[in-house]
Amino acid sequence: MTDSTIPTARLGDTGPEVGVQGLGCMGMSFAYGPSDAKESRAALDRALELGVTLYDTADAYGAGANEEFLAPFFKAHRDEVVIATKFALSIPAGDPTRRVVRNDAPYIRQAVEASLKRLDVDVIDLYYMHRRDQAVPIEETVGVMAELVREGKVKHLGLSEVTAGELRAAQGVHPIAAVQSEWSLFSRDIEDRVVPAARELGVALVPYSPLGRGFLTGAFADADKDLTADDFRRSQPRFTGENAAANAALLEPVRAVARAHDATPAQIALAWVQQQAVVHGLPVIAIPGTRKAGRVEENVRATAVELSAQELALLEPIAGKVAGDRYADMTLTSAGRD
Ligand SMILES: NC(=O)c1ccc[n+]([C@@H]2O[C@H](COP(=O)([O-])OP(=O)(O)OC[C@H]3O[C@@H](n4cnc5c(N)ncnc54)[C@H](OP(=O)(O)O)[C@@H]3O)[C@@H](O)[C@H]2O)c1
Repeated sequence: MTDSTIPTARLGDTGPEVGVQGLGCMGMSFAYGPSDAKESRAALDRALELGVTLYDTADAYGAGANEEFLAPFFKAHRDEVVIATKFALSIPAGDPTRRVVRNDAPYIRQAVEASLKRLDVDVIDLYYMHRRDQAVPIEETVGVMAELVREGKVKHLGLSEVTAGELRAAQGVHPIAAVQSEWSLFSRDIEDRVVPAARELGVALVPYSPLGRGFLTGAFADADKDLTADDFRRSQPRFTGENAAANAALLEPVRAVARAHDATPAQIALAWVQQQAVVHGLPVIAIPGTRKAGRVEENVRATAVELSAQELALLEPIAGKVAGDRYADMTLTSAGRD
């Protein structure tokens, strides 16, 4: 494709302007089977060339490995990239396989220092609370995050998988630039309350897993059969067995719309998410994850695809028919608490 850059959108009323599509970097170090570092680096470079400026990581992705992997790329392009990372999924001493959700002040302070060090930067552009620890009032957590802004360690604040009520309470303490939650043709629970609250409060939505973790692209049809033994998606109820077979059949309208646009199902899934900005009246900056430069190009091209009202109507019923939850344990999601 030509190297024309993509449109931009603002990360909420208080955040920076970014390319309307970001890049999810998690899979480069974690969750989706083996990665090739050279290939991932090429994907990062290509994304930047095409106008992708928001790069998403977290301390939990590979227990710090993802932040460390990205550090040289960020260093080489510090003024061109917006770095988003997250805290909250702590690793208990002596048990590297477990994660404990922590939102308390001592933990946040330790986490931000560790992320700054691994990323090798002076300041994090967008710092998210990754998951909600209900033992700590959200006002207290955001109060600590606001201190990090005042101290110059962090520029903007974000929250992941929060309810509308939690978002409102947080916004009362400090402006929130973005809410990051799962949002795709398969996962639309946030449209009931979280999206309207974000619109009202001037907060951007950053949809994660906009490709349904790859399932919407048709790249795999049954996680147990098609993915490696350590792939996280084998633990997700909608991607295995009878659920996966039923859900694969739901992709037919996505394929039909793709054919009409001479596009791929991935591009239609991303165009649908991006168009939710118009449907709901708020900034939407999706962060599809890929480790391949060719897929970066394919995904970025989706920013130019516009779906008609008729096509949106054809895609509308899909989410309501999906079999199986988006996590085996939904208690850490906003929908699980709402
Ligand atoms: N806040 C949270 O709790 C949370 C949770 C999950 C994810 N995230 C963030 O959101 C980002 C994106 O979510 P995600 O990675 O879970 O899911 P996703 O973006 O929906 O899908 C990623 C999967 O799709 C594949 N893929 C990407 N483009 C493709 C294309 N054009 N054709 C075929 N397959 C394609 C990728 O494989 P390849 O890499 O091999 O291309 C990968 O397996 C993550 O990287 C992470 O930064 C946040």
